[in-house]
Amino acid sequence: MKILENIFPTSEQIPLEWKLDNFTEQREYLINGELRTWNGPMKVVISPISIKNGTQIIKNSIGSTPLLTEKESLQALDSAVNAYGNGTGEWPTMSIEKRIAHIEQFVVEMKKQRISVVKLLMWEIGKNLPDSEKEFDRTIIYIEDTIRELKNLDHGNSKFENEEGIIAQIRRVPLGVALCMGPYNYPLNETFTTLIPALIMGNTVVFKPAKYGVLFMKPLMKVFQESFPKGVINIIYGKGRETVGAIMATGKIDVFAFIGINKGASDIKKLHPKPHRLRSVLGLDAKNPAFILHDADIDTAVSETIAGSLSFNGQRCTAIKIIFVHESIADAFLKKYTNSLTKLKFGMPWEKDVKITPLPEIGKTAYLKELVKDAKQFGADIINENGGEINDTFFYPAVLFPVNSQMRIYHEEQFGPVVPIVPYTDIEEIINYSVQSNFGQQLSVFGTDSENIGLLIDELANQVGRININAQCQRGPDNYPFIGRKDSAEGTLSVHDALRAFSIRILISTKDNPVNREIFKTIVRENQSNYLRLDYVF
Ligand code: G3H
Repeated sequence: MKILENIFPTSEQIPLEWKLDNFTEQREYLINGELRTWNGPMKVVISPISIKNGTQIIKNSIGSTPLLTEKESLQALDSAVNAYGNGTGEWPTMSIEKRIAHIEQFVVEMKKQRISVVKLLMWEIGKNLPDSEKEFDRTIIYIEDTIRELKNLDHGNSKFENEEGIIAQIRRVPLGVALCMGPYNYPLNETFTTLIPALIMGNTVVFKPAKYGVLFMKPLMKVFQESFPKGVINIIYGKGRETVGAIMATGKIDVFAFIGINKGASDIKKLHPKPHRLRSVLGLDAKNPAFILHDADIDTAVSETIAGSLSFNGQRCTAIKIIFVHESIADAFLKKYTNSLTKLKFGMPWEKDVKITPLPEIGKTAYLKELVKDAKQFGADIINENGGEINDTFFYPAVLFPVNSQMRIYHEEQFGPVVPIVPYTDIEEIINYSVQSNFGQQLSVFGTDSENIGLLIDELANQVGRININAQCQRGPDNYPFIGRKDSAEGTLSVHDALRAFSIRILISTKDNPVNREIFKTIVRENQSNYLRLDYVF
């Protein structure tokens, strides 16, 4: 505890630049193009960054968000349904060029809010400054790439096919009304990687921000309102059961985009009365393992697994959540891993080079403590100095060794700074772990023998969506497909794939004869259809 005694700042120690000027009271929600003010109950947002006052650690309330009810949620849904107008609304029928112009306007205005958004991300979820900035910048790039990709998609579709005497044009059109929900660890980026593709493809949207990481929406509310026609994007806040539950139960949602826990996704999905009408785009739990083979380059394995397991305190869906190390190099690996860990700076998100920060989830440190206790009971120890020390919302990373299958940490996604390390002797043990796991997002393999690595790739290729060789697991680059098997995902995301996930193809076809040819030619020449056309979106 001694090393954590002064981890939280006194209010005087907070740099002026990063001080929050005031309590962020976020009363507005967006329905049908109107920013409405909520006068009902509010949820107080407690920052993971507590404040030291003498010997006391004081919880820090930094803002509040509306606790809307079923009534407002259904109004938001109605607004999205009306704007979609059974596919004949202004937005779904708008030309791609015009839709892109709305998104471009949004990006221009969003960029102006960078500092406010970054600051609120740091205070609300404890993400360090460079990562908060990266989250913002990556999101902007994602949107810009999405625009470029949509143009490419449209160029490829601006032609006629002729197969077996049938002329056809094949285009992509929206699915309908989308419900988008994001996670607290990437509340801006991950949410926007579904929200923006949903919008740009012509869907109308009801968006509910994550449980934590909500306040940063305040500076963006007006940007959303002013960038889109009314009803196209509706933003609500509140408890999932009252808000999202009511919306889903109507059966009027066509696409459910959710990044979070698979149990939450299943509960919400089950409420939809017409399961075949609902398309789901889900990014869910993961327990990505790193397999360190006997001939691995230990320095590479250490630097990659340190970053992989502890970036943003292990709160990434792609984080390495369990490490298997061959027993012959276990000692050397553990020594270097724990040495590197000692060098990770811990503190407040704005401090230079800080890597380990306080945790935003209520009850999280107690949960991690339970996992450690359970592991100890089955024979593991914390092998790093200060591992598992807690001060309020801060949990110093705990490295557990030797971990085995009796322990909860072997199976559960800890989503935090506890690093379980399992010694293994036989390659079958790591293959079995992957086969038996309920999750199938990614894994990492560290080794130098190409033949061994090749064999392992072949054994594991049907278990996960990505195998990283001598590298940590990660989602990026965002142009690559982000996949999960088993309980880890439904659908594939990437700049390219998301456009497909939020759309469906429509064929306009006819029998190839002179009369029909002339009809098609005239429609195109005279611009008589938004869908049957051969124009080029620059
Ligand atoms: O939480 C899941 C994120 O998509 C991870 O993204 O691997 O780029 O940090 P990342």
